[in-house]
Amino acid sequence: MKRDFIAIADYSPEEIQGLLDLAVELKKEWFAGGNKPILKGKALAMVFQKPSLRTRVSFEMAMEHLGGHAFYLGPQEIGLGKREAISDIARVLSGYVQGIMARVFAHEHILELARWADVPVINGLSDYNHPAQALADALTIYEHFGKVKGLKVAFIGDGNNVAVSLMHISTKLGANFAWAGPEGYEIPEQAIEQAREFAAESGASLQFTHDPHEAVKGADVIYTDTWVSMGEEAEAEKRKRVFPPYQVNAALVAEAKPEVIVMHCLPAHRGEEITDEVIDGPHSVVFQQAHNRLHAQKAILARLMGGI
Ligand code: CP
Ligand code: NVA
Repeated sequence: MKRDFIAIADYSPEEIQGLLDLAVELKKEWFAGGNKPILKGKALAMVFQKPSLRTRVSFEMAMEHLGGHAFYLGPQEIGLGKREAISDIARVLSGYVQGIMARVFAHEHILELARWADVPVINGLSDYNHPAQALADALTIYEHFGKVKGLKVAFIGDGNNVAVSLMHISTKLGANFAWAGPEGYEIPEQAIEQAREFAAESGASLQFTHDPHEAVKGADVIYTDTWVSMGEEAEAEKRKRVFPPYQVNAALVAEAKPEVIVMHCLPAHRGEEITDEVIDGPHSVVFQQAHNRLHAQKAILARLMGGI
């Protein structure tokens, strides 16, 4: 049976910890001279409906590190669901490659790809979630603090795809999760319901507020993301009027624990959701976090496509 990587919610805490341990191991091995070619002769198709820097380059390099091959299929090429039905694309690609990574608009489209593909499908971001990002985020937190359980992770801003996956991985691993953002931009209720179940199992707590000061109180991690996600460009002006009270700036960071780390999935909109002073300051781990996309994704690929 093939296994997909569509949502953090689909993985048990033990499986997530297993992926983190594998990422740490592969990272160590890489810096000690290189990885074993466990994906030799295997290929990953990378389907993108939206732009990308980190996801595209880190998945491509991840395949290369593991001895495999990856290729990019942009929005102009295969026309997911437009030029051709998703079910047909999934079945055709399954005869050529051993894995499919896709970045889509509608979450339903990644589910449909996974339903029809005979090979593992990896979610490279949908409008609903961003699980590959969350695994790299947890890896970064784990490396920094030596644990995830018991920490307070505060997400400040839009209750978007990145917030959903961060909330799920935090609660799965026993970290207390807080969210603060404007009214009308909350994390989807269905995702919160799942997080409540994960938190009940792991002993984590959840906090939802419209007050960013409340959310960062006692935080070990402050996390933010763009106010306008890809596909929401038409709402940009309205969002830029509503979100400024949720900017992660030096004053807000000073209200968290003194050793707090600041995270951002990037791309950042400097001067909007985060100031230059914070992103380039001593609390920021954003570049280590971005680099960890490579290592976390190697773990996903090795497990799903290499049987490691
Ligand atoms: N964080 C992230 O997924 O970046 P890209 O959009 O550049 O891939
Ligand atoms: N929330 C952002 C994340 C980009 C990596 C978006 O969807 O555009």
